[in-house]
Amino acid sequence: MTMPPVLLKGDELLEHDTGAQYDTSRDLSKYLLMHYGRLEDQFDRRKHPLAAAHGYCQRLSDLLQNSAQRTKTPVARAFDIGCNVGGLSHALSRWVTDEVVGIDVSPRSISIAKSLTEHGSGTFSVIEQGPFYREVRIQVAEPSERARLTFEVGDANMLRPKGDPFDAVILSNVLDRVWQPVECLRRLSESNDILRSGGLLMVACPWAWFAEYSHPSEWLGSAATRTPSAQAMKALLEKDFDLVTESDEAGVLRENPREYDYFESHVTVWHKR
Ligand SMILES: C[S@@+](CC[C@H](N)C(=O)[O-])C[C@H]1O[C@@H](n2cnc3c(N)ncnc32)[C@H](O)[C@@H]1O
Repeated sequence: MTMPPVLLKGDELLEHDTGAQYDTSRDLSKYLLMHYGRLEDQFDRRKHPLAAAHGYCQRLSDLLQNSAQRTKTPVARAFDIGCNVGGLSHALSRWVTDEVVGIDVSPRSISIAKSLTEHGSGTFSVIEQGPFYREVRIQVAEPSERARLTFEVGDANMLRPKGDPFDAVILSNVLDRVWQPVECLRRLSESNDILRSGGLLMVACPWAWFAEYSHPSEWLGSAATRTPSAQAMKALLEKDFDLVTESDEAGVLRENPREYDYFESHVTVWHKR
């Protein structure tokens, strides 16, 4: 029996890490756990107060699949922009028929997504109480049980066509991290080379704006007119899309067994005219 690859060594979690955000060992460990970990990997008890926030990637994938069924949209190819370690891409690949492509600016997250996909399983470590870590083993679907998966380093603000236009594009918790969020949405709305006419766009976002990611003048919404980000996004997308569904989806990133980052993303699915 071959040993699963080590996606992230435990010792790395204890070192001073000067990498860019989302590229550090601690961030990669948290996202691996959020994207692939079981409930019992994430919490020390099943009835943890945040347990309902577990399974974010699967819930988003289910929501998109339901929207595809409701709008009778066949999804042969899907594009997961800002995919990080690829958990949502993997969940999508269980029902998308041909291919899921994931891109991210973080080279380490893409390298981990590729390694896990190639080997089908892997191990990584999570911080425990005090200066300890614990190993977590994860497994993904066999190639025969899923669509083809491709992961690449890529920038949401420099999107280029990848073969035929996609049937579905997903921006999960990335719009408030790119330097030109409006431009990113326009690229997907105003031409059909990335997302086809008749395709689906899913935008999930906690609207957590920070000047280190995008200049405040780029943020969706306005302080002057007290326009919330969700309203500004809708005004932008309504010209080219019909709204299929709108909801809030909770997620959780584990820092250690006593500290968690809880978020609720505003999730909309849009059908392109
Ligand atoms: C908050 S994380 C969300 C990860 C994942 N989509 C999720 O929902 O769990 C934001 C991700 O967007 C990536 N990112 C930031 N700016 C990006 C850009 N311009 N293009 C592509 N990915 C970007 C980061 O590297 C990070 O992996």
